Amino acid sequence: MPRQTRIANDPALYDRLAGEWWRPRGVFAVLHWLAAARGALVPAPERPGAVLVDLGCGAGLLAPHVEGYVHVGVDVSRESLALARKHGVMAVRADVAAVPLPDECADVVVAGEILEHVPDLAAVVAEACRLLRPGGLLVVDTLAATALCRFLAIGVAERIPRIATRGVHDPALLVDRRELVRECRRHGVALTLRGIMPHLGDAALWLARRREAVRMAPVPTTAVLFQAWGVKGARPEAGPGR
Ligand SMILES: C[S@@+](CC[C@H](N)C(=O)[O-])C[C@H]1O[C@@H](n2cnc3c(N)ncnc32)[C@H](O)[C@@H]1O
Repeated sequence: MPRQTRIANDPALYDRLAGEWWRPRGVFAVLHWLAAARGALVPAPERPGAVLVDLGCGAGLLAPHVEGYVHVGVDVSRESLALARKHGVMAVRADVAAVPLPDECADVVVAGEILEHVPDLAAVVAEACRLLRPGGLLVVDTLAATALCRFLAIGVAERIPRIATRGVHDPALLVDRRELVRECRRHGVALTLRGIMPHLGDAALWLARRREAVRMAPVPTTAVLFQAWGVKGARPEAGPGR
């Protein structure tokens, strides 16, 4: 059943703020940190020509972390895709709920910070799993549909300049973890989840301009920001990909 959106989550925001994408201290700085953490879950390609499909790729911030793959990025934002192309991404302008790519074309599908922006989670999960070849890896990071996440990621983070842009998230679209796991399982991908947050020491140094990037640290709860991964046609693992 499609979820209802409210006023927030304006898709034009990414075109308007396109100049910010690749600024490490711009309004999308946190996305740089998350892209590095996401890339660490993607193993080196097993063969030349291995394909990684990046759903909601934005300006291609993942590109430096997944070198060696044919990196195909799907997004609705024209300006963001133009930047992604400059970073070696093969850009496809499309809705992530209806991707014009063939079944099982991808060795890896990533959905980084996109699932909390889509009105029909089940449709996007189905699309991600359709694109993935048997034995391929799905990697996700997103925000959980919990009161704690609404408070921290929207109530607090969206009030701190350079941490999150005001109105970027619609609380109604945060991701129900059980629904995500269930929908992935239905399409043959058994997910493992891990909570993460910015490393507080790194973040303090970053704010003081004494550090360029902030690492993500694992946390014992998936109730706010979390990563998830799974292989199509495999059981959940005990730990992260690498
Ligand atoms: C928070 S950004 C994440 C970008 C990128 N994954 C990253 O982490 O740097 C969300 C991206 O999803 C795109 N987006 C939102 N809804 C979409 C949809 N239905 N189909 C395709 N792209 C969408 C936006 O244009 C934006 O580039």
